[in-house]
Amino acid sequence: PVPAIVDGLIARMTIEEKAGQLTLNPSAWGGGVATQLNPPTSGPSWDAQLDEVRRMQLTGVFNSNGAEAARRMQTVAMTESRLKIPLLFAADIIHGHRTIFPVGVGEAASFEPELAERTARMASYEAAASGIDWTFAPMVDIARDQRWGRTMEGAGEDVLLGELMGAARVRGFQGKDLKANDAMLACAKHFAAYGAAEAGLDYNSVDISERTLREVYLPPFKAAFEAGALSAMASFNEISGVPSTANPWLMQDVLRGEWGFEGFVVSDYTGDEEMIAHGFAKDAREATKLAFLAGVDMSMTSNFYRNHLPALVRDGEVPMERLDRSVRRVLAMKAALGLFDDPFRRIDTKREKARSRTRAATALSREAGRKSIVLLRNDGDLLPLPRSGRKIAIIGPFASGQHDLNGPWVIYGDNAEAVDLATGVRNAVSDKESVTVVEGSGVEAPIAGGIEAAVAAARAADIVLLAIGESETMSGEAQSRPEIVVPAPQQALAEAVAAVGKPVVVVLKNGRALALQGAVADAPAILVTWFLGTQTGNAIADILFGAYGPSGRLPCSFPRSPGQQPYYYAHKPTGRPNPGEKLEPYKAHYRGIPNSALYPFGHGLTYGRIQYADLTAEPTLSWNGTLSVSARITNSGARAAEELVQLYVRDRTASVTRPVRELKAFRRVALAPGASEIVRFTLKREQLLFIGLDDKPVVEPGQFDLWISPSAEAEGLHARFELTQA
Ligand code: IFM
Repeated sequence: PVPAIVDGLIARMTIEEKAGQLTLNPSAWGGGVATQLNPPTSGPSWDAQLDEVRRMQLTGVFNSNGAEAARRMQTVAMTESRLKIPLLFAADIIHGHRTIFPVGVGEAASFEPELAERTARMASYEAAASGIDWTFAPMVDIARDQRWGRTMEGAGEDVLLGELMGAARVRGFQGKDLKANDAMLACAKHFAAYGAAEAGLDYNSVDISERTLREVYLPPFKAAFEAGALSAMASFNEISGVPSTANPWLMQDVLRGEWGFEGFVVSDYTGDEEMIAHGFAKDAREATKLAFLAGVDMSMTSNFYRNHLPALVRDGEVPMERLDRSVRRVLAMKAALGLFDDPFRRIDTKREKARSRTRAATALSREAGRKSIVLLRNDGDLLPLPRSGRKIAIIGPFASGQHDLNGPWVIYGDNAEAVDLATGVRNAVSDKESVTVVEGSGVEAPIAGGIEAAVAAARAADIVLLAIGESETMSGEAQSRPEIVVPAPQQALAEAVAAVGKPVVVVLKNGRALALQGAVADAPAILVTWFLGTQTGNAIADILFGAYGPSGRLPCSFPRSPGQQPYYYAHKPTGRPNPGEKLEPYKAHYRGIPNSALYPFGHGLTYGRIQYADLTAEPTLSWNGTLSVSARITNSGARAAEELVQLYVRDRTASVTRPVRELKAFRRVALAPGASEIVRFTLKREQLLFIGLDDKPVVEPGQFDLWISPSAEAEGLHARFELTQA
């Protein structure tokens, strides 16, 4: 229920003050976005902003720099503005605040929603203490084209994983009580289908069927709202000719009508203004009207709402009730966050300091880091490495140095406070002198003499850790890549180092799946380490030296070739499938490569030796019944292992064609050397739902394939069952 204070305030507000409540702008404090908390500054923009607060023209602030700045602004709002309505402070707290956790796609590799909930909780604990009420997270966009730079921020290509991770992050950010001083309001973004941008080009058009939208791109949003997310951000893209920012079907029919969403919607940055460039609105006034009437309650950055809504209301083009409804939603949220009870509840400089980079947060960052790492390959059990007796050369642009550790979308964390790979390795080995570090190459440009120095270091070493991949500016917003490969100078470095003949462990840094080639793909051991944040080096060393067995799995398929994009495991079969390795003429594949991934979704090795056997699956699932499935998973290796057992299904024939496999469930099983366990799943009819010809959910009786397997494309164990109407 909306508290009485809200309607009391609305009754007293001018139209301009109402439009001011729907305005969100970046903080002018110390220049806005910063990598560190800025010291207080004054200056014309700061003074002008305080003046806007006094006049109630700015009521939402984002990327404010710390509790002191927030305190000063809130004090002005609460003592010098006419109605003394508290400001709302927002920021992009995407994967940590001061303590940084792995990027979203990395953390998704843990396949552990409970971990994502804990890291989001910790991020709230840190960030809320510095005055932040609202985070622009989680991003729940499904990413099926790895050229898209924002792949790094979500949970990868799969719908089920996207739903689980998105919902967990919402629970983590918002906590049990939104009023608590360690809770932030979550924002599910970007509504909708931002990840379906044509050709993976950020901001590009989306043209997909309503069926695909409902089946792939909308479910993680629904899950986020069901988990309690009370704000949403409209996406920049258009869908089939209509920019999301002006799409009443999305914002009203689906979001509020079908799903019963009761929070508020914010534009993405200048999304309202951008409708002019889209060719959808002729000018600022029309863009404002279209966005507002479509259902975007709050405008970020453009100032279109505060500049144009008053005239639109006075001229009768926007009903006053609509304006009041949006203001009510925003004020209700301020009330839900406890701001009317105490506008300073999250603003406390002492608490900000006390909660920053605690030991618990650091430990959690290390735990999340090592659980996010995926072991793609480990020929001859090269890993784990012994802690002594080996000369190790760490070679590559990411071997050492305080850069590219936190990853994209970090505003308040500092790479200088993170642990680099060389430090992590030196912390783990018994003789620090045994570790040599050589840069070898820049990220995207060669360095003079780099390869020669790297080759010399490799010759003198027993083992090479090749630290290569993408810098943190190569993924994230507006960082679409035409070719998802290791940049050429680093590939050249890899070839030269491999030619020395020493065992090479590739330690890949990446914000997306990459097409690994040549010496990188051929290296006997490959670790995918994403951007792991504060504890990067220690987390990688935990895996390298076996303090922790690798347990991560790919949340996005690593293709055989960059030209295979978009590639995702849950693709449709085509009328001429060529699923095997043998290339058959006139069957669906690109010249020279099978139509499959090099390392598929769900793939990841352990330090154990895992066998799947003894599948039992009931042959029939009755309409209202359950189907039991089980398999024996054994670790015959000499080391403990955590195996992620996955259950996939295919609907063999339906009124709408179905993907070749879809993930329906997964379970983690910890196996000591020699141990064996029966892993059980239960399937229900609801898990077999799809979007039918009429764009509504449907389940059809018939034959289904079922696999229990270690990845989306591994053969695993196979059975068939029938869904009957009885
Ligand atoms: O939250 C982000 C969004 O994801 C991309 N555009 C800018 C917003 C605010 O920083």
